[in-house]
Amino acid sequence: MSGYKVPRRIVNVSAEAAFAVLRIAKNVEKTGKRVVHLEIGEPDFDTPKHIKEAAVEALNKNLTHYTPTLGIPELRREIAESVKRDYGVEVDWEKNVAVTTGCKQAILASTLSIVDEGEEVIYPNPGYPEYEAAAYFAGGKPVPYRLRIEEGFRMTPDGLAELITPKTKLVVLNTPNNPCGVVMPEEDVRGVVELAEDHGFYILSDEIYRPILFDSLKHYSPLHVKKSLDRLIIVDGFSKRYAMTGWRLGYALVPEEILPQLFKLLNVMTSCPNSISQYAALAALRGPQEPVMNMVKEYWRRRDIVVEELSKLEKIRFVKPEGAFYVMVDVSEILNKLKTSSEEFVKMLIERYGVAFLHGTALGSYGEGFIRISFATSEENIREGIRLLGKAIEELSKS
Ligand SMILES: Cc1ncc(COP(=O)(O)O)c(C=O)c1O
Repeated sequence: MSGYKVPRRIVNVSAEAAFAVLRIAKNVEKTGKRVVHLEIGEPDFDTPKHIKEAAVEALNKNLTHYTPTLGIPELRREIAESVKRDYGVEVDWEKNVAVTTGCKQAILASTLSIVDEGEEVIYPNPGYPEYEAAAYFAGGKPVPYRLRIEEGFRMTPDGLAELITPKTKLVVLNTPNNPCGVVMPEEDVRGVVELAEDHGFYILSDEIYRPILFDSLKHYSPLHVKKSLDRLIIVDGFSKRYAMTGWRLGYALVPEEILPQLFKLLNVMTSCPNSISQYAALAALRGPQEPVMNMVKEYWRRRDIVVEELSKLEKIRFVKPEGAFYVMVDVSEILNKLKTSSEEFVKMLIERYGVAFLHGTALGSYGEGFIRISFATSEENIREGIRLLGKAIEELSKS
């Protein structure tokens, strides 16, 4: 016995379960069985060619050394330009912009730079698990906002008001949202901003899916409402928009007083973001945006296919996604019948039916009863995967 005790700040942290599901599926595949993958939350497209070429050029120019901790000035300037273009708001690249190793690091470092011991962080649940993990790392108290299917998975100002206490330090928004595909309407964003003004908490708005919108919906950010980064942090990145998950590049837009703290944290964590990826990201922002638009068009088409296929199934419920590339499916009826959890159900679907989804609890405690389908995959996989889900539900209901 080593007497090892897991430190309090990490005892409640779990690694992203999406990677564990993928491992189970890969093990099944090793036995020669086919698995249809609908669990993976990453674009199935290749990184656009001009972005890859910029990376090759950077390599050939030997731009392979450490860069400034907050990123190369050209990229920080370009990010500030893109904010002006997309939000109509001026941010100062030297005072407000930090380039990070993925949006994930932007979430962690921003949370650490704001939240003190015992302070509360309200975050969507089910939701991207990093928010809760970051609150624990900071020694704060994660306070889940339960997204309910009956309310269209919306996070409303009224619902939020019920969770606010004098200890509320940070409220996390995510629009379009992973895993529910919900896009926050303007009135909800305004309502949350008003609450922030009244109670003095910070908002962290995760906008990594912001161009991935369907039905001609618009993206509303607290930045559109506030027009400044006063007690507002925006985290974003290149992973989803430009199909660059493996390049690990994101950024945070933060109030001036936060940047020096972010600088310290990022320096301690990674020294600087990957140099080659930064030149690739520069090309992504400066180059043509058609590849992004084409990918969004394709996600939209697939969203319609998902809705068409899911509508054929009985004993499930879902809300039509408005953005991102996920749908949360309520399978509680079948889980109750089988007296099992969403996690066990997902394992059973992989092993017995050859289809992989993400169990809802991988996205937080209130994800129990749900599975998440990712439609960042081919039409054929989507149709086949949902058909297999239907087959499983039909067979298991009879058992
Ligand atoms: C809502 C949300 N934010 C952030 C991230 C992480 O992005 P990155 O790959 O840039 O770290 C993800 C990835 O799935 C996500 O779904």
